[in-house]
Amino acid sequence: MPTMSALLERAESVTTSPRWDLEKRFPVVADRAKGCHVWDADGNRYIDYTSCSGAAPLGAAHPAVVEAAVAALRNGGIVPCTLSQARIETAEQLMPLFPFADRARFFRTGSCATTAAARMARVHTGRRLILTSGFHGWHDWHLQSAFGGLPDRDRETIDFGYDLDRLAEILATRWSDVAAVFVTPEVNFFPPAYHVELAQLVRGHGCLLMVDEVMTGLRYRLGGYATAAGIDPDLITISKGLANGMALSAVLGRGEVLDGADSAYLGYTYQREVTPFAAAAASLRIFRSSEDDPIGRMHAAGRALISGLNELFERTSVPAVAFSWPSMFRVLFASDEIGEAFYSGLLRRGVLMEYGGVHMISAATSSADLAYTLEAAHDSLTEVLRTARPHSNGSARVGDADAHALAYRAFGATPATLEKWWPGFAPAPPN
Ligand SMILES: Cc1ncc(COP(=O)(O)O)c(C=O)c1O
Repeated sequence: MPTMSALLERAESVTTSPRWDLEKRFPVVADRAKGCHVWDADGNRYIDYTSCSGAAPLGAAHPAVVEAAVAALRNGGIVPCTLSQARIETAEQLMPLFPFADRARFFRTGSCATTAAARMARVHTGRRLILTSGFHGWHDWHLQSAFGGLPDRDRETIDFGYDLDRLAEILATRWSDVAAVFVTPEVNFFPPAYHVELAQLVRGHGCLLMVDEVMTGLRYRLGGYATAAGIDPDLITISKGLANGMALSAVLGRGEVLDGADSAYLGYTYQREVTPFAAAAASLRIFRSSEDDPIGRMHAAGRALISGLNELFERTSVPAVAFSWPSMFRVLFASDEIGEAFYSGLLRRGVLMEYGGVHMISAATSSADLAYTLEAAHDSLTEVLRTARPHSNGSARVGDADAHALAYRAFGATPATLEKWWPGFAPAPPN
């Protein structure tokens, strides 16, 4: 078996993708994963708090999902036509979860679904302009300026930075150009009342309201964010977790908008696959089972981690805070130096959490995993504090300004809108 360092060397010479992970995130060659555990090529075990970038919220290799996927593969895995029983069953299972939706149109990735939704809105309204906030993937139509150094972004999108005053201004002057307002709920920063006000602003201008639920659709609550917040979008996009580990995404929404999509060429070769749909149908059965209640388990585990981390920060007088939606929380340090050192100590102790990222806990996380993680957090912070003061190069407390800076960096929310809507570091909400 090649060692991890030999594999990393080979990767350096033949692939481009590892740079980001090697320098910024996880310098690990993963070998296998099961539940919330992943093993590297040297056999070291880690606890994964990313759910594989949100793709496997039930945990990797969930037995019922594996069984369904393997059976589909044995049956061919792909068919010449685009319809399969598994595809129909997946759509049927989604409809009751998202009551505003009449139909589903499937794609492979979140970026494909958001790009398709933008095209559907343009076809449906005959208008071009998309007003957007938040991350929607890597495709050209919306590239976020925050990422810098990128090829040209689509000139027919405007990022309003979650700023409702700016949105109102654009709608007042250019409403007849606007095909859709397309927003990603940043649940740790904007309350449901913000989205209700946004939805009210959009209505009456002849454009569509679209919510990007690639992250939240199967993680915030069963049925996603829009339903929980009480808004009624025309379209939403979902993906992460839909087929628990396999590539599948969907645009869900009003039938008349989705039906019109037939005239906006949206075909692709791999829509003939059956395997991801078999995995999705099995995953959705688990998501919908009150006995399994995976989202309830993600929330309980997230709440335990948030409160354990906050107790640790308080005990050690380190200005840092874990907040707030349990299944997708963040941690903010006043000092990046301390934060980065703390997270790299966690990695060395076998805990995969991305500094500055959203912590997407999986339903497979056990109380033993949580206890191990909190112990590793204690040990890592103790080690950091041996050579650094609790707030080296940072202020003595984490303030609203730090949260505003993070929100601007991460998804372009303007300080003005955060001043109006950011509720502060709310404790984890009850179940
Ligand atoms: C809200 C949102 N939209 C779209 C995407 C893009 O999805 P994908 O990476 O599957 O293309 C992501 C991915 O993180 C996302 O979080």
